[in-house]
Amino acid sequence: MVQRENNLANEDNVCLKAVELRKSYISGKEELQVLKGIDLTVEVGEFITIVGASGVGKTTLLNLLGTLDRPTSGTVFYKDQDVFKLNDRDLARFRNREIGFIFQFHHLLPEFTAIENVMMPTLIAGMNKEQSFKIAKGLLQIVGLDGREHHKPAELSGGEQQRVAVARALANNPKVILADEPTGNLDRKSGEAIHDMIFRLNREMKQTFIIVTHNENLAQRSDRVIGLIDGKAEILKGD
Ligand SMILES: Nc1ncnc2c1ncn2[C@@H]1O[C@H](COP(=O)(O)OP(=O)(O)O)[C@@H](O)[C@H]1O
Ligand SMILES: [Mg+2]
Repeated sequence: MVQRENNLANEDNVCLKAVELRKSYISGKEELQVLKGIDLTVEVGEFITIVGASGVGKTTLLNLLGTLDRPTSGTVFYKDQDVFKLNDRDLARFRNREIGFIFQFHHLLPEFTAIENVMMPTLIAGMNKEQSFKIAKGLLQIVGLDGREHHKPAELSGGEQQRVAVARALANNPKVILADEPTGNLDRKSGEAIHDMIFRLNREMKQTFIIVTHNENLAQRSDRVIGLIDGKAEILKGD
């Protein structure tokens, strides 16, 4: 009984759980096995980095954890929800509400201003414009872009564009933020500023982060480093 209570207490603290996750791509007659059974439990508030050689499957793994793609077998649980049991429509809704994404290239909509880009996820989730605006303004403040709300992406530097992307990822107050080489495209100084900022969000707002990176420094600062090697996950730092 005590054992069971312990388990339940632990479960409460789990953000997501990948179970025996496999992914193969088929092209013509060839089958490319990229992920060969990944098990990974991520706790609420953890800061995890994923490292590994180019082409090893880091983006593939992140896309599965983020439900942007479906696995060949195995699954991902968010709390008790086996997310791949959802149909595409419900999965899209789940993703919009529960997961924030930061990509290597910011993927901001060029014809919209910074604040409109940050408002997008909450508007899609059905929030009214006034509330959405208020939240977006607050987030742009947090990422240090006060006064730049009405600039379009092209009028911002690469680092500033990525800050807008971070603010957008936070808009729906997601359970987890997934980032795929978020600073790979930035100079060192702008990259470090973004790293400092996401660490602060992790510490102060208890946001859970899973970040694919080639940045040694960022990996060193994270709670756990997961290495992808030949389709399997190996813990390189943490436990
Ligand atoms: N949609 C796809 N169809 C076929 N092969 C793919 C697809 N996406 C990725 N791959 C292949 O899967 C492997 C892992 O890719 P990826 O996850 O992008 O690696 P990483 O992000 O670690 O560089 C690569 O060999 C890549 O060419
Ligand atoms: Mg990649």
